[in-house]
Amino acid sequence: MPGQSAPALAVAFGWQSVLDSAGPQAARIEDLWWVYFWVCAAVFVLVFLALVMAVFRGRRGKGDPTDPGAPHPPASERRLTRTVAGATAATAVILIGLLVATVAASRATSSLPGDPLTIELTGQQWWWQVRYEDPTPSRMVTTANEIHIPVGRPVRVKTRSTDVIHSFWVPNLHGKRDLIPGRPSEILIQADRPGVFRGQCAEFCGYQHANMALLVVAEPPETFAAWYEAQLQPARPPSDALQQRGKVVFEALPCPLCHTIAGTQASGKTAPDLTHLASRRMLAAGTLPNTRGHLGGWILDPQTIKPGNKMPAVSLGSDDLRALLAYLESLR
Ligand code: CUA
Repeated sequence: MPGQSAPALAVAFGWQSVLDSAGPQAARIEDLWWVYFWVCAAVFVLVFLALVMAVFRGRRGKGDPTDPGAPHPPASERRLTRTVAGATAATAVILIGLLVATVAASRATSSLPGDPLTIELTGQQWWWQVRYEDPTPSRMVTTANEIHIPVGRPVRVKTRSTDVIHSFWVPNLHGKRDLIPGRPSEILIQADRPGVFRGQCAEFCGYQHANMALLVVAEPPETFAAWYEAQLQPARPPSDALQQRGKVVFEALPCPLCHTIAGTQASGKTAPDLTHLASRRMLAAGTLPNTRGHLGGWILDPQTIKPGNKMPAVSLGSDDLRALLAYLESLR
């Protein structure tokens, strides 16, 4: 769904939801969520009923209404003690039961059978660098803010951060994993059905924390393999005069100091790799749909769209901008 923003309703029904699990670990977490929901709902109803009963019994005015401190008759006292002791025991049993269910779910989600694909995910203010590991260095893929995974295969996501604490969270696939500078970690995810699942940085990491999203695109293994092969290729050379001019514009601007376009002079490492920019669905870490208009707006005025991010505004004439957009849109 290139060029499509997340409709508000989709947020509630699956696009980024714990209650629409798409993998084995998320399914365990969803089950646990429902256990908590029903247990807590039952406790709430019982406590509320007890409260209502207490109010109405008190109104009936047993004992001496002028003396609230008067002792209860012995039989009533025994019944009260039994009730309080029973409620205390039930509370303990419920809490221990929830603890056991939580520990069991946590253990079940920490491993996955099968040969995992390994991805190194680096959180930065405020975007995600994605690097697919491979024993052959020339077969490693680097991209940003969009993770493609094959359905049915476990994926080991090695998480790291180079600045502040971030947190990787794709609720349809798993729980959260914090990215702590100097403390690499990893999490195993797996999708059991194709789909596009939105993830969100879940740890406040500065001004644009809320605009630090990513997409996980789960696709059939053949589709994933084709995507991977395409990502391994260097950038397409410009195919017409306009794109050629766009490439010249790109290289004359400060862009190559931060961005890489494989196969060109641009080899900056501090910003997202743009080699296959046009193949991605969103811009600026899930902030904008990847359309020509948004891309143009982003290049001209990134500080209004995402204040505080590290991309400076550039001033461009309309012909240069048109050429630059034609070139960037050709980077499929
Ligand atoms: Cu990164 Cu919040």
